[in-house]
Amino acid sequence: MSRRVIGIVMNGVTGRMGYRQHLVRSILAIREQGGLPLGDGQVLWPEPILVGRSAAKLEELAKRHGLSHWTTSLDEALAHPLAEIYFDAQVTQARESAIKAAIAAGKHIYTEKPTAESLDAALELARLARAAGVCNGAVQDKLFLPGLLKLKRLVDGGFFGRILSVRGEFGYWVFEGDWQDAQRPSWNYRAEDGGGMILDMFPHWRYVLDGIIAPVRSVYAHTATHIPQRVDEQGRPYPATADDAAYGVFELEGGIVAQVNSSWAVRVDRDELVEFQVDGTEGSAVAGLRNCRIQHRGSTPKPVWNPDLPVTESFREQWQQVPDNAEFDNGFKVQWELFLKHVVTGAPYQWDLLEGAKGVQLAELGLRSAREGRRLDVPELSL
Ligand SMILES: NC(=O)c1ccc[n+]([C@@H]2O[C@H](COP(=O)([O-])OP(=O)(O)OC[C@H]3O[C@@H](n4cnc5c(N)ncnc54)[C@H](O)[C@@H]3O)[C@@H](O)[C@H]2O)c1
Repeated sequence: MSRRVIGIVMNGVTGRMGYRQHLVRSILAIREQGGLPLGDGQVLWPEPILVGRSAAKLEELAKRHGLSHWTTSLDEALAHPLAEIYFDAQVTQARESAIKAAIAAGKHIYTEKPTAESLDAALELARLARAAGVCNGAVQDKLFLPGLLKLKRLVDGGFFGRILSVRGEFGYWVFEGDWQDAQRPSWNYRAEDGGGMILDMFPHWRYVLDGIIAPVRSVYAHTATHIPQRVDEQGRPYPATADDAAYGVFELEGGIVAQVNSSWAVRVDRDELVEFQVDGTEGSAVAGLRNCRIQHRGSTPKPVWNPDLPVTESFREQWQQVPDNAEFDNGFKVQWELFLKHVVTGAPYQWDLLEGAKGVQLAELGLRSAREGRRLDVPELSL
């Protein structure tokens, strides 16, 4: 098989997402499996060109993984003779200008979400990419999680009958940083640095709801900053200026009501860190990251409210696990493979910068809804 090399400028690979999910679990994993077969006898071989702010960190990282290309200059990386794709996993605030530079250099674009900090900026990026004729994609990893793939399978198979409602619970306790180290970066809790629960998670909820259940038509959000002061990576206290919890109610096409609670100040009493319960006339499902359980209309118990008696049945045991019926790979890697094939073979790819902009739109409207205390329509977007 002949090898087709494709250079990917990877920015933000010293960060949590850039390193673990994108470099190690996606691009290096594709190399470990021998490349990505293109179906025509060729194998695609991704060649990372690491770019970032710290030469020492990049050099160490490159050495650790046997990589030969790294630089602290974005211009230099974009001018690399192998570079065809620009990938961005930087802090959200640094994204817009870097993507603009990459589009101007004629590179295909793949980026973490949110694609920008405002809807105007997100739409401008989508327009610029379209005008330049470059392929573009935004990470929508949750769509490729085993639990949500099983949920999609149920929707596609007509399991639910008429879908009535969705209940999402996301979150866990993020330590304040004083007593035990915080397990998320401090910028996440500062609005001035692009942090906040809504900006972080509403882009995910947009594509999960749009892509699996039905298009989002309105939003009402209530936000809170439950923990007003945290301690940063250097041990310094700082005021948490961003929302650390968001309680959202979304109306979907067809009158479906979705409620999603997102919080970094909640202790987990769930099977998984995110779970969505979908109730329909014919059956219900609870989907998490990996698992999905169902209860059909025909096996639905008839509980009777009587607080004077102890609970008579074990409700959890009345659900049935949906079998895998497939091999599931890492969701980030699956999406990378689809994007790479799109770039080199022209295979269809639907999760582009316009789809990414829809996530930013929902975040922006969610924040406005919380400020103004009212429900807002979510208008259609076009370029
Ligand atoms: N898809 C997902 O599930 C998911 C999950 C978490 C985060 N994210 C997104 O990924 C991006 C990175 O998040 P993370 O949690 O990896 O953050 P992180 O703080 O761990 O990493 C940020 C990266 O950006 C770089 N950077 C560039 N300019 C910077 C600046 N001015 N200040 C600080 N760092 C700068 C850092 O060096 C680092 O490589 C964010 O846009 C975030 O929204 C996505």
